[in-house]
Amino acid sequence: MTPKIKPLVAGNWKMNGLHASLHELEAMTKGYNTELRGFLDMLVCVPATLIHSAAKRTSNTSVMIGGQDCHINASGAHTGDCSAEMIADCGANAVIVGHSERRTDHGESSTTVKAKAGAGLRVGLLTIVCIGETEAERKSGRTLEVLSEQLGQSMPDSATADTVAVAYEPVWAIGTGLTPAVEDVHEAHGFMRKQLTERFGNEGSRMRLLYGGSVKPENATELMAIENVDGALVGGASLKAADFLGICNAYRNIKNT
Ligand code: PGA
Repeated sequence: MTPKIKPLVAGNWKMNGLHASLHELEAMTKGYNTELRGFLDMLVCVPATLIHSAAKRTSNTSVMIGGQDCHINASGAHTGDCSAEMIADCGANAVIVGHSERRTDHGESSTTVKAKAGAGLRVGLLTIVCIGETEAERKSGRTLEVLSEQLGQSMPDSATADTVAVAYEPVWAIGTGLTPAVEDVHEAHGFMRKQLTERFGNEGSRMRLLYGGSVKPENATELMAIENVDGALVGGASLKAADFLGICNAYRNIKNT
C-alpha cells in the first residue's frame, strides 16, 4: 500500500458473462456502497456487449465500469473492433490495455499498447496499462528488464496519476492459482515506482500500481499490504460478488491492523 493513494480494485470478466450475470454486478455494487466505498475505488471491466447495460445499472453509484481493450483509431474499417470513443459512449469510465492475453492472442506489441492507452486518454477513460513477465523470462532472471522495457514502451507520455494505472501481472500467475512470493511483488512494484517517478515525477509517485494474477479473498490481504501495491486486477475471482467483495475487504483488514 502506498500512503495517501486510494486503492483501486478492478475486475476483469474477460470473455465471460451474459446479461443474466449482471445480478453479480448488482450484488458487488450493493456491497461496495454499504461497506467499502471509503476504502477503495471499484471498477468492473465487463465484455463490450455488457458495457451499456452494466453502466446503466451502476449509474447512480460510484462503481466504475470499463472495457477490456480498445482500437487506436476513433472509427474506421476495422471489423470487429471497438474504439475508445464507442466504449465511452456506452457509459464506460475505464479501459484495460495491453493485457497479456491481448499481447499473446492478438500479437499486440508495447508500441500498439501505448497507442491504445493514448486512445483511452483521448476520451477521458481511466486507462489500465498491463505489463508482466512470462515464466521463461522470470526463470532466466530477466523480470525487471522485461518490466522496464514494457513500462517504458507502453506508457503514453501524457499519463498522469489520475488518468492511468499500471497493472503488474506476471503471465505465469494469471489463472493458474500461482502467485509470486511477497518479496518478488515487493521488488517488482518498487522497481516500477522508481521508473515511473523518474519519468513522470510527482505523477509517477502517485500513480496506482495494481497487482494481478490469481488474486483471491484468501491471499488478498497479504498481497495488498505490500508496499507500492495500490490495488488489484482480478480475473476469475471477479465473476462472483462474494469473491470480489472478499478481495475488496482486504482493505478493511489492512486499515484495521
Ligand atoms: P486471474 O486473472 O485473477 O484469473 O488470475 C487476472 C487477469 O488476467 O487480469
